Amino acid sequence: MNRYILRFFQISFVWLMPSFLSGGALVAQIIPIQTAKQALVLQVNTNKNLGIIYFGKRLGNEAEYALASTQYKQAGDYTGIYNSAYTPAGSRNLLEPAISVTHADGNNSLDLVYVSHGQKKVAEEVTLDSILLKDPVYQFDVTLYYKSYYNEDVVEQWSAISQHEKGPVQLHKFASANLYLKAGSFWLRQYHGDWAREMQPEEAKLTHGIKTLDTKLGTRANLFQPSVFMVSLDKPATEDEGQVLFAGTEWSGNFRTDLELDPQNNLRILSGINNYASTYSLKPGEIFVTPAFWYSFSADGKGQASRNVQNWARNYKLLDGKGDRLTLLNNWESTFFDFNEQKLKELLQDTKKLGVDLFLLDDGWFANKYPRNDDHAGLGDWDENKAKLPNGIGTLVKEATDNGVKFGIWIEPEMVNPKSELYEKHPDWVIKQPKRDEYYFRNQLVLDLSNPDVQNYVYGIVDHLFIKNPQLAYIKWDCNAVIYNAYSAHLKNQSALYIDYVRGLYEVLKRIRAKYPAVPMMLCSGGGGRVDYGALQYFTEYWPSDNTDPMERIFIQWEYSYFYPAIASSNHVTDWGKQSIKFRTDVAMMGKLGFDIVVDHLGEKDLAFCQQAVKQYNGMKQTIWHGDQYRLSSPWEASVASMLYVAANKGVAYQFNYLVNNRYDEGSKLPIRLKGLDSSRNYRISEVNLYPGVQSSVAGDKIYSGDFLMNIGFNPDVRKGRESVILKIEAQ
Ligand code: DGJ
Repeated sequence: MNRYILRFFQISFVWLMPSFLSGGALVAQIIPIQTAKQALVLQVNTNKNLGIIYFGKRLGNEAEYALASTQYKQAGDYTGIYNSAYTPAGSRNLLEPAISVTHADGNNSLDLVYVSHGQKKVAEEVTLDSILLKDPVYQFDVTLYYKSYYNEDVVEQWSAISQHEKGPVQLHKFASANLYLKAGSFWLRQYHGDWAREMQPEEAKLTHGIKTLDTKLGTRANLFQPSVFMVSLDKPATEDEGQVLFAGTEWSGNFRTDLELDPQNNLRILSGINNYASTYSLKPGEIFVTPAFWYSFSADGKGQASRNVQNWARNYKLLDGKGDRLTLLNNWESTFFDFNEQKLKELLQDTKKLGVDLFLLDDGWFANKYPRNDDHAGLGDWDENKAKLPNGIGTLVKEATDNGVKFGIWIEPEMVNPKSELYEKHPDWVIKQPKRDEYYFRNQLVLDLSNPDVQNYVYGIVDHLFIKNPQLAYIKWDCNAVIYNAYSAHLKNQSALYIDYVRGLYEVLKRIRAKYPAVPMMLCSGGGGRVDYGALQYFTEYWPSDNTDPMERIFIQWEYSYFYPAIASSNHVTDWGKQSIKFRTDVAMMGKLGFDIVVDHLGEKDLAFCQQAVKQYNGMKQTIWHGDQYRLSSPWEASVASMLYVAANKGVAYQFNYLVNNRYDEGSKLPIRLKGLDSSRNYRISEVNLYPGVQSSVAGDKIYSGDFLMNIGFNPDVRKGRESVILKIEAQ
């Protein structure tokens, strides 16, 4: 029977369920939000309150969800709404609310009761459930949306808030989602960071009270903390075992997630835009739509959860997630601001020499009155600098094209140096307090994207570049400053600034994508200061960190890979770190490969290695980008880190292995068990991407069954002298 019809019957069945089956309680209505393996089960009780009665692995028999609550003998619930699917403030609630308001008449109370439920299929295997809740006293309602991606086991949840009162209603808190989980204990894996130290994990058992993950930075919002996190149930999940929830907020500005272990020992998760300094004035008739909060539950450990999320991202979220990407040579680390047309022409030759697809011109190519020769001046003035580029970008784009390589360019269009013509002309376009001293982050300030004139200007920067240079093939979009002194000369209500900024940014990106749907764009923010699925629908890739020391990158990329697919991870070979060119290149190959080195400085053998590595990568990249990723051996726990990418048809796989502990005699003492292969097929293992003249210690003529490789494993022979080893595992 068709899944949708089956579901209709099951919902009806639950409505009619006799009380002996429901454990004696009078059951009103059950609304299961289900994917292939996960279920969030909502219940409308007889008081019309919408609560969550189950969250976890999907059950075979939906009728049994109604019995779940009968098995818990926890402390009492004074309010009856600890498990609310969207907790209102100011009436009988005693816990952290999802929503709190001041009505038009000044009253602070809110109650929300169930009105109706709708469901529609929005794409093959994607269903949208909507549930309307209303305040019985005020003309105020909230619609909860649940978009479920059946095959990927991901749900996106958001809410739409509206009112028809006699004047504006103040929204003090307005979460996207409110989840409720039951388990013996909860283990939070969260991330913190700073420049060059992105995605540092911390894992701890959640204790009673509220743990808040948030940011108030406005633009480079993830500098100290990204919104992604994991919660394991009962014990910390491993790669292949344990129940775990992965989640994140699709919002490129201030977010806030509260994890509250409630008086009954259940976990309430409330996530959305950060309400810090952002009370929203909602006009009668206006609909405030929150960004989505995405989540994926796995009963089979973190590895499965990450593959769910990566598949979802490639299939639905990341721009061109199923397409190709360009390898490149970037000039940031090799020249910084110090270049001219001649130098760049040489770099175009180097691009060709390396064999990569594109040359990416970084910061420093623009501004004349205040030339961009360092990071103190010029930002905002997007005309080519005449001293460096007397013939403009066009000449370079042409030269690149004539040489058979593509040309890309860096911009940072949301920002301005006070030392710029833009600042002189439009001081009112800049976010700053009128009566206070300016305070800078990297000598710059943020433009006020809540202002439509500024939006036009920012859109125009990109549009003019393409109009003048139709063959431009790539944009690196940077964002280096946070918002200090939040104040908009454009807005009457300053509380709208943080939200309207992000809305303005998305408006610009939407316009760019409407006109230039396909051009690849890298989402960069002084490293990984802005990586989220709100932004990634407009970008093809992101820059994880300015820290390209390959040892650091093994850890940073490892953690990002839980939440983002390898195809989106821009990894560049640079001169950071003391490792060999092979080690550095191998690490960069675990995503979207690029170089940012002085090609001229490479010795003959290093150059030959890089050239053959690019060719090698071209043969591997489809598996890395579109295959299934398995973390085999963690750099946090073992001396050898190992990551595997398996092609969808299990015909080929690539295993990347690194020595991450330089103590005496460390290495791969034990075989490393592979995953995701076909146990009944035979595979040949060989080492690839060898440095010129190096013989592999891995005999390439042996055949092993998938069964052997996944149960006994294979030893990549990683040790001093063989610190980086890539294996090709090929079905025979
Ligand atoms: C920060 C970026 O992360 C770098 O890659 C580089 O583009 C600089 N900005 C340029 O100013």
